[in-house]
Amino acid sequence: MNSQRTMPILPVEAYTSQEWFDLEQERIFSRTWAFAGLAEDIDEPGQYTSVQAGLNNIFIVMGRDRRLRAFHNICRHRGTQLLRAVGNTQRAIVCPYHDWTYDLEGNLLSVPNQEREFPNLDMSCLGLKQASVDRWRGMLWVHPDENAGSIMDWFGAVEPHLGPHDVDRLIEYKDGRTEHEIAANWKIVVENYIDGYHLAHLHAGTLAMYDHARIESGFVGPHFAFYEPLAPEFAENLAENTPSPLVIPPDRVGAWVPMLFPGIGLGETESSWSVFHVTPLAPDRTRVVTRSKVADASLWDFVWQSFRSYGFWARRIGGKFEGDASDPMASGDFMAEDIYACEQQQRSLQSPYFEHGPSSAKGETGVRQHQELVQEWVGRP
Ligand code: FES
Ligand SMILES: [Fe+2]
Repeated sequence: MNSQRTMPILPVEAYTSQEWFDLEQERIFSRTWAFAGLAEDIDEPGQYTSVQAGLNNIFIVMGRDRRLRAFHNICRHRGTQLLRAVGNTQRAIVCPYHDWTYDLEGNLLSVPNQEREFPNLDMSCLGLKQASVDRWRGMLWVHPDENAGSIMDWFGAVEPHLGPHDVDRLIEYKDGRTEHEIAANWKIVVENYIDGYHLAHLHAGTLAMYDHARIESGFVGPHFAFYEPLAPEFAENLAENTPSPLVIPPDRVGAWVPMLFPGIGLGETESSWSVFHVTPLAPDRTRVVTRSKVADASLWDFVWQSFRSYGFWARRIGGKFEGDASDPMASGDFMAEDIYACEQQQRSLQSPYFEHGPSSAKGETGVRQHQELVQEWVGRP
């Protein structure tokens, strides 16, 4: 990729038009591995969860043999969605429309009034269409193609650049889940996530405990890897400064904040682990769900304060942080700051006076590379 370019790559329409949105749904989100939850979401036969992967709704269900299987959430009769959200189906999957019934392995088991209504039905050809499912780093993943191959073909190269966290052993604090609908295109949200240039500015008061001058980042295949160490003044008195038990060895403290293509961010820090799941809803609307894990869920409030509101850290080392929770730019919450910036950018794209300005040589390299990647996948200039 040409990382020397210092102008943005994608046109304004890429962030505003339905045409681009539709192409991305078809060519990116329907052809890649999609985050479908944490591994512990499904741990007994009959439990299921469903997820939108581009144009496909897919559910994962655990069979009686305790194997995970993924199916397209489409009844083989007239296409009604079979399962919604998360739950437990016990032994069978029953379509709500005409009660066609499938087993947990996807075979069609029964059709009401079969002899009268469908006298020559070959039920063996009417099993559910399979998708692919896998577990990786404590997460569940699905791919619409049943022959998607190994998930390590997709994530293997970036894995050494992620944090040393043992995600399966950490504990989710359920009340820590957040869900935001952001009035911005999904690429603005993702580009903000991988923009190293804004960290010392937009988040001057909230992310100051990391050493932004020592960021190590770059693309590994389609995935963006990012690491920055704690600033020396925080690292020195770590035992005093850190609000909760470390989840990684003390000699490796810092933050790994990769963005896995297309739109699955991780926030892997010394005291917590989070997933930041981006789902495009419309050209100017994006859902972001975060789920977080820590070493000890009873200390959650303490960890959450530190994770979301790094004004906490500033106060802790005697800084003068004074936040106003009602103002996103002074709330001490870095996510509120990011959402504010993303929504303002999206709004400006509508103005006839908007034109892309120059892009910074180092801090915004990842942003340009992400745009090149999207352009390649979509196949449009
Ligand atoms: S659509 Fe499912 S049973 Fe008719
Ligand atoms: Fe940010």
